[in-house]
Amino acid sequence: MKKSMKIMLFAIVLPFLGQAQQDDTKMNKFLDELMSKMTLQEKIGQLNLVTAGEAVTGSVVSTGVEKKIAEGKIGGIFSLSTPEKTRRAQEIAMKQSRLKIPIIFGMDVIHGYRTTFPIPLGLAASWDLNLIEQTARIAAKEATADGIQWAFSPMVDISRDARWGRISEGSGEDPYLGGLIAAAMVRGLQSNDLRAKDAMLACVKHFALYGAAESGRDYNTTDMSLHRMYNEYFPPYKAAIDAGVGSVMVSFNDINGVPASANKWLLTDVLRKDWGFGGLVVSDYTGINELVDHGLGDLKQVSQLSLNAGMDMDMVGEGFLTTLEQSLKEGKVTQERIDAACRAVLEAKYKLGLFDNPFKNTDSERAKTDIYIAEHLKKAREAATKSFVLLKNENQTLPLKKQGKVAVIGPLANTGSNMPGTWSVSADHANTPSLVEGMRESLGNNVEIITHIGSNLLEDAAYQERATMFGRTIPRDERDEKTIIAEAIEAAKDADVIVAALGEASEMSGESSSRVDIGIPAVQQRLLKELVATGKPVVLVLFAGRPMTIAEESETVPAILNVWFGGSETGKAVADVLFGDVNPSGKLPASFPKHVGQLPLYYAHKNTGRPLPKGQWFEKFRSNYLDVDNDPLYPFGYGLSYTKFDYAQPTASATSMKFGEKLNVEVQVSNNGNWDGEEVVQLYIRDLVGSITRPVKELKKFEKVLIKKGETKTIAFEITEEDLKFFNNNLEWIAEEGEFELFVGSNSRDTQSLKFTLEK
Ligand code: BGC
Repeated sequence: MKKSMKIMLFAIVLPFLGQAQQDDTKMNKFLDELMSKMTLQEKIGQLNLVTAGEAVTGSVVSTGVEKKIAEGKIGGIFSLSTPEKTRRAQEIAMKQSRLKIPIIFGMDVIHGYRTTFPIPLGLAASWDLNLIEQTARIAAKEATADGIQWAFSPMVDISRDARWGRISEGSGEDPYLGGLIAAAMVRGLQSNDLRAKDAMLACVKHFALYGAAESGRDYNTTDMSLHRMYNEYFPPYKAAIDAGVGSVMVSFNDINGVPASANKWLLTDVLRKDWGFGGLVVSDYTGINELVDHGLGDLKQVSQLSLNAGMDMDMVGEGFLTTLEQSLKEGKVTQERIDAACRAVLEAKYKLGLFDNPFKNTDSERAKTDIYIAEHLKKAREAATKSFVLLKNENQTLPLKKQGKVAVIGPLANTGSNMPGTWSVSADHANTPSLVEGMRESLGNNVEIITHIGSNLLEDAAYQERATMFGRTIPRDERDEKTIIAEAIEAAKDADVIVAALGEASEMSGESSSRVDIGIPAVQQRLLKELVATGKPVVLVLFAGRPMTIAEESETVPAILNVWFGGSETGKAVADVLFGDVNPSGKLPASFPKHVGQLPLYYAHKNTGRPLPKGQWFEKFRSNYLDVDNDPLYPFGYGLSYTKFDYAQPTASATSMKFGEKLNVEVQVSNNGNWDGEEVVQLYIRDLVGSITRPVKELKKFEKVLIKKGETKTIAFEITEEDLKFFNNNLEWIAEEGEFELFVGSNSRDTQSLKFTLEK
């Protein structure tokens, strides 16, 4: 069609289309025109995502990167920030490159930006979707004010093995909770208008099954049945897609013999064809190059494989940049596929409004007014208090009185840089208040705080170095252990209560931080024993990037508050909860095992043919261990409050429902304690007979409610056929007739149940 005819047709048709279609038509016209001018090299250049490289004097990115921008060999840059630096890089693209295609700037904006919120596992423990969405919104406001438009978040990998360090970055073990959080994050980051100055393109990662790495070792193989994949691991990715996420990051791992980065079934058949994803697919950091080590061929071969599988953009490795031209000549890849990948990158930029305003995020004034401001810190404090999980509170040790002396002892007491937690690349680690500083600021003169390191983080200095990377420092005391402990006990001698600040350093979880021993390090355990032996009340404030094995501590220590890594305002938030200004309401998003040998451990397990009778912990020829029972130490959904919630028996509107009908379930929850409190009322369902084996319980609904002291609230849930569906062995999404058991309670273990049937 002639160009003039095309324009005429466009003018005639446009007024009759809906807004979304009009936008698409406009975008397509713009991109058709742009792409018609692009050379093959320029198209391949758009597929190249690089880091800023080493800054050389006078440059904001490495000279190599600057040259490539000018030559049109770069589509995006990540980990470059500030309006000034991103402006300079963008100016090169706009002034020196032939077609003036703007660069997209990305960053790992995972749980906040400069203002950091709790690690994602902690945010998940809030079970508060609005709050999580608000944290993502604030993160987007700050990051976009600092030059960035693309967040490599949300990370939604389901993990049921706490040895895996990256369990800290996701929402835990449950696909339903994980899916809701994934969608909330996407809404928060992208808002409802990607063109807005404070909206970011979200990137759901890591597609797929990264959290199921064998033996919890990072980057390890996954191999799993399709029905498990679809029922248990896919839902959060799918939820992000359904929420309109603009991009997907592909995982490093092997999936049933084909690494994700080369997996056409995953990236094209599932993602694009079945799920209808129309956005940008990006590799993880050198994920394409790593296919060489996976054993799929040389760089040229693996780059072909990856592009053909459906990968659009190559992070860091430059396999696409350096080999695709030749592969096209040899007929190993098609022009059509290169065009589609290039188009996906350009569409992302178009949707962000970068073609209209490439400098939309380079306003230095916004950087001053929108980053790390009081309003954001207030939300960070609230989010932190809501992420904490009270695991034990014997004899109401907590809350503490705002008076007297408190000894805050332990290697995590005086380290600000560890408070933001792992993957907080934009936090100001050096200036984040430590636990003690935050507590002091919050408590003022009411409480005297004395403090001591008590022990090293780890006995082994080399291990401690591996565990405190990227400026997350904890000083070492090289004196002999007994001397250090004795000094700590001496310091605490006049205290009314001891707060033991123990656990992991922030870099003991996160990427490439898997552990086989997920307990509190032995040297800290020895300190804790001595603290308990003083006879003073001891509160363990547990820093953890994962569910930890604390069976012994939960026997001996009267109160345990699990605080994960709470972000910028950790110290104040801990004070808020310890001293009763905030009643804790967090609930575990992942089971805490009794022993590492129980892993993988999750509440939604199968029954097996030889289940253990309830209440028993060993029986010969049953599915169990000789040395530890099957139960978690603290189950999924568990978390105490200062008040006491009592549940009545749940009731249902009927004992059966027909396909297409609904069942109304109600439960009364009473606050019979002395505090107002928030409770997460949880509803689980078991499909008692199925065409494939079904989990013993699956979370299907929950509601977080504030119940005032003395008050009773009725919580109502509606069960539909959709809630009873699962993927059968033919991967059909169906509900099957038969009997179901429905459980309601305050966690996945302590529930009351009723039965109903689904009938034709
Ligand atoms: C991680 C990703 C991250 C990327 C860019 C990789 O090592 O797996 O989660 O987005 O680096 O920083």
